[in-house]
Amino acid sequence: MTTTVPSSVGSALDRVESPDKVTGHARYAFEHSPRDVAYAVPVQATIARGEVRTVDVDAVLKCPGVIAAIWYANAPKLAPADNPELSVLQSPRVSYRGQYVALVVAETLQDAREAARTMKVEYATEQHDVELRADHPGMYRPNRVNPNFPADVEQGDPDAALAGAPVVVDATYTTPAEHQNPMEPHATVAEWDGDGLTLHDSNQGSSVVRDTVASLFGMPPANVRVISPHVGGGFGSKGTPHPHVILAALAAKQTGRPVKLAVTRQQMFAVTGYRTPTIQRVRLGADADGRLRAIVHEAFEQSSTLREFAEQTTTPTRMMYAAPDRRTTHRLVRLDVPTPSWMRAPGETPGMFALESAMDELAIACELDPVELRIRNEPDADPESGLPFSSRNLVACLRDGVRRFGWTDRDPTPGVRRRGRWLVGTGVASSTYPAYRSPSQASARAEQDGRFTVRIAASDIGTGARTVLTQIAADALRTSADRVQVEIGDSSLPTASLAGGSMGTASWGTAVVRACEALVDELDRRGGDLPAGGVEASADTTEEIKGRQRFARHAFGAQFAEVGVDTDTGETRMLRLLGVFAAGRIVNPKTARSQFIGGMTMGLSMALLEESVMDREFGDYLNHDFAQYHIATCADVPDIEAFWVEEEDPHLNPMGSKGIGEIGIVGTAAAVANAVHHATGVRIRDLPIRLDKLV
Ligand code: MOS
Repeated sequence: MTTTVPSSVGSALDRVESPDKVTGHARYAFEHSPRDVAYAVPVQATIARGEVRTVDVDAVLKCPGVIAAIWYANAPKLAPADNPELSVLQSPRVSYRGQYVALVVAETLQDAREAARTMKVEYATEQHDVELRADHPGMYRPNRVNPNFPADVEQGDPDAALAGAPVVVDATYTTPAEHQNPMEPHATVAEWDGDGLTLHDSNQGSSVVRDTVASLFGMPPANVRVISPHVGGGFGSKGTPHPHVILAALAAKQTGRPVKLAVTRQQMFAVTGYRTPTIQRVRLGADADGRLRAIVHEAFEQSSTLREFAEQTTTPTRMMYAAPDRRTTHRLVRLDVPTPSWMRAPGETPGMFALESAMDELAIACELDPVELRIRNEPDADPESGLPFSSRNLVACLRDGVRRFGWTDRDPTPGVRRRGRWLVGTGVASSTYPAYRSPSQASARAEQDGRFTVRIAASDIGTGARTVLTQIAADALRTSADRVQVEIGDSSLPTASLAGGSMGTASWGTAVVRACEALVDELDRRGGDLPAGGVEASADTTEEIKGRQRFARHAFGAQFAEVGVDTDTGETRMLRLLGVFAAGRIVNPKTARSQFIGGMTMGLSMALLEESVMDREFGDYLNHDFAQYHIATCADVPDIEAFWVEEEDPHLNPMGSKGIGEIGIVGTAAAVANAVHHATGVRIRDLPIRLDKLV
């Protein structure tokens, strides 16, 4: 252990599980088939508001292969849930169209689907209200916004500052509802053994699923085991359990059989979360030279009648730019819709579309280069808290992007660059995302054969988490990555925080480093004397992470876009997208690049394609599949590049890393919309940028 081993952190290690994935050995939740397994298919409400009167259970039970038909009247009772969405089949109330009202369990998936399809459900229908409007009489100020920010923050006198500002931008932007759509839809396989429950489940954190399910079934968490070694994406939709997890467990309990439940792609559009639509008014007041005097950013959003989820849409505006007078607010209306939830950078993504579009409009109003405008408004400290930034390299990202993208000498005149049928333009926007950390536990074991095993209930949703934890552990153990085996994705491992909030690596990595350090100390103490069965050490970072408010910690980035707009059809095509990020130390350049360009791709998808369309009469999102809900594919992304600047930040965690899972999507849509304006002279303030808005 005394020889010098080259640092593993910083190297482009291939994904450690990639051989398992390409050979099909990696198993996803639904691929697990216990003996005697039965299949559950849920039935969804066909009204947006009202009550279930009756379900014709007898008719369903006569269908081939049917084992059980469960609804409110015959469902096992659950303990009250913190999240009422999870109190599934506990009440006859229907709170949104698509809500689960019944469940069929059958011998085969085909039998279950057929019986569910023919199930007759009678409703008492009530008038529904599903339309988000800024002037909705039900608009109110939530107490806090996700996860725990004040809804409103005001500093100085922004109204007076706006009234006195030589240049004012006052514009309203809207973003539609969007659905996360990970490649692997949600799925749960539930199996009871006496008082014990095992779930094979697709999620972003097995510890959280365990705790939530245990509480609903009134059991100690130790009686529940959640196994999730491989997860095909989440984008926030698997950050907390959705009702299907409870349905699977409930069906297995009711029937005494192991039960498989897969949420179909079409069902996902009602039952696994989505990004709230937003209406945002931004007012910027500035001096003629572009220096901001006032920023006012007001967001209007929706939640369900079941549960308040208030997205933190305007929080990035609290820390992005210097301005003495400022106000940021959130208003929410409870509609007869599913509960919105986390979708990749909830808050920052729609919020920065509005702010960074408004900054572009201000640059034009001040006849200033949009990069220079941002540099001119760079704050010395966090404008909201006054705390110093642990590191803030937005300007370095902008400057590096200018050089790499070829921004210098850009002619700001809109609508004048023609390439055949196409009008061509470029745009820029800033990115940001907070650097969070959450308590986790880990263990590290020295095996007798000289290898190491590290255990933590972390989750790899396709990000490369398993790989970077291997690298982090190898360095802390002063060994090479090929001697380290990292076990994750199982709630029986040491409890860990979510793969969410871009804090996985920071949170789990800290716990892994501390466990490995403790193991190295223990091995040193033993002086090379390793007992049979090895030596183990563990760590819990709860104390370490407490009370560290001395800095504002955020990652930053700059996004540059070039688009062509077809002058005949109005179609917008991405020509180039280039991002430069400052996100602390990059643990693995290969997986990091994938995270950045994945986020950027999702951002351009948001700019040009993604939109869940609410039908007022039906009370539901109309587009329920990939034929109608469009997501960027390879042909939409011809040229995409991500770079990062070197950033040494000692105020973060033992790795010096900031999160990178979400920042790539932040700002992208504004960069694209700004480029569309530069190309055409048309300012699109309502996403997505469809061709009918441009012709
Ligand atoms: Mo992310 S939306 O916090 O999983």
